[in-house]
Amino acid sequence: MPDPAATAGHAIVLAAGKGTRMKSDLAKVLHRAAGRTLLAWVLEAIAASEPQRTLVVVGHQAEEVAAGLPAGVDAVAQEPQNGTGHAAQIALDHLGQIAPDATVLVAYGDMPLVGGETYAALAARPAEVEVRMATVDPGPEGFGRMIRDASGSVRGIVEERDCSPDQLLLTERNPGLYAFRAGALADALAKVGTDNSQGEMYLTDVIGLIVDGGGRIETFTVPAEDVVGVNSHDQLAQVEAALRRRINTDHMRNGVWMLDPDRTYIDATVQIEAGARIYPGTHLEGATTVGPGATVGPDCYLVDSSVGGEARVTYSVLRAAMVGEGASVGPYASLRPGTVLAARSKAGTFVETKNTTLGEGAKVPHLSYMGDAVIGRQANVGAGSITCNYDGYEKHETVIGERAFIGSDTMLVAPVTIGDGAVTGAGSVITSNVEPGALAIERSPQKDVPGYAERRAARAKKRDDATRDAQKGS
Ligand code: UD1
Ligand code: MG
Repeated sequence: MPDPAATAGHAIVLAAGKGTRMKSDLAKVLHRAAGRTLLAWVLEAIAASEPQRTLVVVGHQAEEVAAGLPAGVDAVAQEPQNGTGHAAQIALDHLGQIAPDATVLVAYGDMPLVGGETYAALAARPAEVEVRMATVDPGPEGFGRMIRDASGSVRGIVEERDCSPDQLLLTERNPGLYAFRAGALADALAKVGTDNSQGEMYLTDVIGLIVDGGGRIETFTVPAEDVVGVNSHDQLAQVEAALRRRINTDHMRNGVWMLDPDRTYIDATVQIEAGARIYPGTHLEGATTVGPGATVGPDCYLVDSSVGGEARVTYSVLRAAMVGEGASVGPYASLRPGTVLAARSKAGTFVETKNTTLGEGAKVPHLSYMGDAVIGRQANVGAGSITCNYDGYEKHETVIGERAFIGSDTMLVAPVTIGDGAVTGAGSVITSNVEPGALAIERSPQKDVPGYAERRAARAKKRDDATRDAQKGS
């Protein structure tokens, strides 16, 4: 049983690099997977080891990276970015006077799949060991190679690009997860040079320097699938898929039904109640919630939206929308910000809403646009109706009373109020308020022309005959 380190630890996360291999303007650690930045995943896992202080080394897009840090985590700038060893040195300097026997965790900000239990295992560095670190065997291409002597003791780490042909074949590799005795790290960093293929200070050189000074290195292995470093977009997709599997497995274990978890995309920030049903092609993002017994999908895209218990959402897009209990959305609805559907209401096929409230049981079943509208309970809006809410300069409100019946293809020219229980005739352009219980109809009177179809057919036949005769004559 190893003694836990005498003094509680500090954590350093390296996140200053540009991430050249991403070929992206965004700093690498700000790329997102399953709803969080790569760095946020790392910081969440590290929090499990309860470090006294956590420092993030920032450089490329320093302000943006620092702005996204959770409370209690501080940023320290590295300028220029002269390698992982240089980054660790700057962070260690920033920590100031810490006990030489304190444990300092060092991790890279581009390793989002490492779980909290791994950081906790690192933090349990025995006092007589200078470094406790993870290795992976067989490890992936690109990782530094662990060099051991004949007795199996670690001698150092060689970066892949600096390896001899023999070293390239070594399968035990460095995922970049270390717990150092602070004093040993500081002494070794002071000796790290830049004599390598990149001309940078490598953190990995610290291991060989500590061994040379007689220090002890202890290793434990971690599964390869937990240590995917994101250096390129294909690795980002690999990480996203792994996080998706974890998130969806958790939901299914909590009682959520999924037809095809490989094709169901749920951010880590989303909450789903037991008994909900999610069909494939569904993306749930941000602060989205799904209630018990609700059905979402197939093919839905929900951002920051809530779906009440027993509600149904099919083939639809929802952004900052609230769907009440037992309400129905779609197929092919677009609910834009500020949409609130009360219990058992409906926004049906090809319906768009924005900043609009539907009262309990109100229905907009087909082909409508409702913007800046308040629609009372049990009202029915006929197919093809539209709130003309924008006059080219400003937006105006439409109010539709309880139990009102809006005839198909009604244009409601806002601002306008339709009273409770009022009716509008199909095809009307309504420009002034309608009293409760009244009928408003705005149409030209219908004109019937008897015998018209027959006369039209006869005219057409005459034309055809004349053409035929002319062709014969020529
Ligand atoms: C590093 C390790 C390698 C290991 C691999 C695991 C070194 C020299 N190499 O290589 O042994 O197998 O991770 O993924 O440490 N960073 C800074 N400042 C810098 C340079 C980098 O903060 O000056 C940060 C980056 O933002 C990144 C992390 O350090 O988050 C790792 O840098 P990266 O360039 O990805 O190193 P690898 O080539 O992956
Ligand atoms: Mg990397």
